[in-house]
Amino acid sequence: MNKKSEFKHRRQQLQAQLQPKSLVLLMAPPQILRNGDNPYPYRPDSNFFYLSGFAEPEAVLLLLSKDLGGQSILFSRPRDPNLERWDGYMLGLEGAISELGMDEAYPIAEFQQRLPHYLQQATHVYAPWGRMTTLEQWIIAAQNDLKKQVRKGVSWPTEFIDVQSMVDEMRAIKSDYEIDLMRTAAQISVKAHHAVMKFAKPELNEYQVEAHFNYHCALDNGRKQAYSPIVASGPNACTLHYKSNTDVLRDGDLLLIDAGCEYDNYASDITRTFPVNGHFSVPQKQIYELVLAAQLAGIAAVKPGAPWNAVQRVMLQILTKGLVDLGLLKGNVDTLIEEKAFLQFYMHGSGHFLGLDVHDAGAYKVKGQWRDMEKGMVLTVEPGLYIDANDMTVDPKWRGIGVRIEDDVVVTEQGCEVLSAGLVKTVADIEALMAR
Ligand code: GLY
Ligand code: MN
Ligand code: MN
Repeated sequence: MNKKSEFKHRRQQLQAQLQPKSLVLLMAPPQILRNGDNPYPYRPDSNFFYLSGFAEPEAVLLLLSKDLGGQSILFSRPRDPNLERWDGYMLGLEGAISELGMDEAYPIAEFQQRLPHYLQQATHVYAPWGRMTTLEQWIIAAQNDLKKQVRKGVSWPTEFIDVQSMVDEMRAIKSDYEIDLMRTAAQISVKAHHAVMKFAKPELNEYQVEAHFNYHCALDNGRKQAYSPIVASGPNACTLHYKSNTDVLRDGDLLLIDAGCEYDNYASDITRTFPVNGHFSVPQKQIYELVLAAQLAGIAAVKPGAPWNAVQRVMLQILTKGLVDLGLLKGNVDTLIEEKAFLQFYMHGSGHFLGLDVHDAGAYKVKGQWRDMEKGMVLTVEPGLYIDANDMTVDPKWRGIGVRIEDDVVVTEQGCEVLSAGLVKTVADIEALMAR
């Protein structure tokens, strides 16, 4: 599907779920100033973008239910040569129709004046209630105007429904169009991860490694990161979302890099852990290979019909048994799992949905039960072991070792496809790559 029909199809899918006499209203978030008149780079709201394909600020998307005409209408900024002189190309009203498949397009400046016309035909309004104050104020003002006309027989909506959870649910299952974009995001990040593995060496700083990763992503048009890169050497890897990235890489330490670019607003999220000097020590290798065994088993558990927690269940079994074999935990494996003894070394979940957001939309449980995986879901599988540098309960040789291995996985008809499969992850392959 091309971009225009893809976005049109998404809107039609949402419209098919609406009650009769319904409107859907979503608004683009405002441009946020970083300081003075200097804005942060603009990033569209994921749900607004998912339905509109529109990535500029100052816009409202209005969808009508089929019985009200079924139109998709975008209110946005018309093209303006003066603004375009400063800030560059704008899609404009004609572009909204020709590029995004909108049925109608009007200037955003006319939205408030046109809104009562739509509201008086509707009984239900679907919006991201509680998230867009300006949009809600406009709706309330228009409702109040309509109420003043009650004696003329004018009516107004009385049912207000959260559209957020509906769009979130649509987003949980990716189309082929989305998976292609995510495959590109993952491939760009894989190339950048390979580049930093070859680049890293003792005495560099973590921020130099971060810069190298960003540079390689940007060279391939992955110019935004999907989240702040985590470049954590030695014991810093035990801080799960370490962000300062300002330590010196030490000979003999591991380096954990959790980083992924965004491509056309779609995220990748990949972690590799490798030795700064190119050679795993024996304890590092033992922990690494345990995490890798858990991750491979976790990936093998990704298939349609398996419950979400199947991945964590299989990984906990392998990690806990491995920790006992290495002498880091003592006792019966099943009892240790039951008592959550693994939390000392593994304190997060198996992964998360991935898509427009790095921690993407979609419910993990339905009616209190873990939901089943379905074809088209994209998720990360990211076990880790983190042995605190000050953990006096373990042999000193283990202290300060932190390992996480994370890949991006699509649920397919039969099982899964690993989008980041091209990135080396066995001890032998990492050492060979770093030796080159
Ligand atoms: N990069 C954040 C995460 O893995 O969830
Ligand atoms: Mn992740
Ligand atoms: Mn990650």
